[in-house]
Amino acid sequence: MNGASRSSEPFPYVEKVVEWDRQHVGHFVMPFGSNAGFVVDHADGVSWYTTDGKEVLDGSSQLMCVSLGYREQYRREVAEAVAAQIRKLPYSTNFWGFTNEATVAAAQALADIAPSALTMFVFTPGGGESVEVAFELSRAYWKNKGAAKYKIISLQNSYHGIYIGSGSATKLGNGALTRPYGPPASGFRAAPDYDCYRCPLGMSYPECGLQCAKMVENTILVEDPETVAAVIVEVEHGSAGCIPSPPGYMEALRGVCDRSHVHLIVDEVMTGFGRTSVNGNAFACQISGVAPDLMTMAKGITSAYVPLGAVGISKEVAEGLDGSVLAGATYAAHPVSCAAAAKVIEIYRRDGIFQHAADTGRYMADALNEELLAVIPEVDQVSGFGMLLGIEVLKNPETKEGHSHEAMEALQEGALKRGLYIRLAAFGSRLMFCPPLVSTREEIDRMIAILADTFDHESWRHL
Ligand SMILES: Cc1ncc(COP(=O)(O)O)c(C=O)c1O
Repeated sequence: MNGASRSSEPFPYVEKVVEWDRQHVGHFVMPFGSNAGFVVDHADGVSWYTTDGKEVLDGSSQLMCVSLGYREQYRREVAEAVAAQIRKLPYSTNFWGFTNEATVAAAQALADIAPSALTMFVFTPGGGESVEVAFELSRAYWKNKGAAKYKIISLQNSYHGIYIGSGSATKLGNGALTRPYGPPASGFRAAPDYDCYRCPLGMSYPECGLQCAKMVENTILVEDPETVAAVIVEVEHGSAGCIPSPPGYMEALRGVCDRSHVHLIVDEVMTGFGRTSVNGNAFACQISGVAPDLMTMAKGITSAYVPLGAVGISKEVAEGLDGSVLAGATYAAHPVSCAAAAKVIEIYRRDGIFQHAADTGRYMADALNEELLAVIPEVDQVSGFGMLLGIEVLKNPETKEGHSHEAMEALQEGALKRGLYIRLAAFGSRLMFCPPLVSTREEIDRMIAILADTFDHESWRHL
């Protein structure tokens, strides 16, 4: 930082940090060479604070990842677990069968809360990496069996990560996210989505008889089941704007995968660890009771305090992989991240966070229905499981034409100005209301009041 230090007068210093950032830091989801113009300094409760002292309530847990929020008690507990691990064993590779207590503790903690069908866990540095590893495990399983099954089917609204494999499985925005860096990898196919609000098949639930699940089967048939390794699915689309799968969908998809002899990979990177709790469930697939063959996780696994991802593997897949030797990443099963995961999962269970999320999710949905849906003509839908809720904002309720991206950005900026951060869906016209799972009703009320005020007073409708 060219020898500069924090001044007692914050403003010139903040301006310098913003300028140095512009010169030296590349940001994602922002044109290179630009930034948001403020500096995030610290966090507490369910808010983060900028260097110039502004409090911002975190209405989306940033990237739906800071599940425990920023409460002092949780920051301290996880910091102590992390510090103790660094003092004892700061790093130890997972290669060649080396193990350590932190990794085993994290795997045991996962086994205690994951669907019981999943008996083994591999750890990765994050969500996208977990998706990549799940694809590799599925393909390796079929290769071990002598089958040439390698294709991956994903849904049209899906988001699974930014790497070549996970990015190629990401079909959100008709593949717009992979376009900046070239064509997707081969072997990735899209199937019609389960979006009941804008059904791609033009049908209505439940009269449709879940044709969307049948279309996944159709896609497998067209591709040839002998070439398809796995279907990957989010139980609720996160980045697409919190679009939940309809009742019966996961059961139908499980049936499709069983009939076609392909793996069902459930991507719980965003939905896991209580985010979609409706009755105290840790994972979204536990709502239907559908057991995945492979399950990807990240985000809430450490409440995002340190990076970690994981893949849960069923007994059958694990047995089919017996003897396979797969390459790993340096940071796979990093003991410091595993120590954080074991502590965070202990906190979730000790403090009843998943049940709290179910109760708060119901409260949130009722409040959004009352304060927004019932009174703001453009708000047409509040949807989602637990504390992963999407708010649809329409320009034309007759045609369901969504508001422009500029209008949505004006709402987001208006909320930020008033002290609330709320994320926008990657495409389309949905706000994503997903505060930390530990939020109190009073904190939810404050967030929704800001949102309602933004809708009422911000100039956004004409954009
Ligand atoms: C469902 C899903 N899968 C995968 C990912 C990628 O995770 P990461 O950003 O940790 O690579 C995300 C990220 O938002 C996600 O929502």
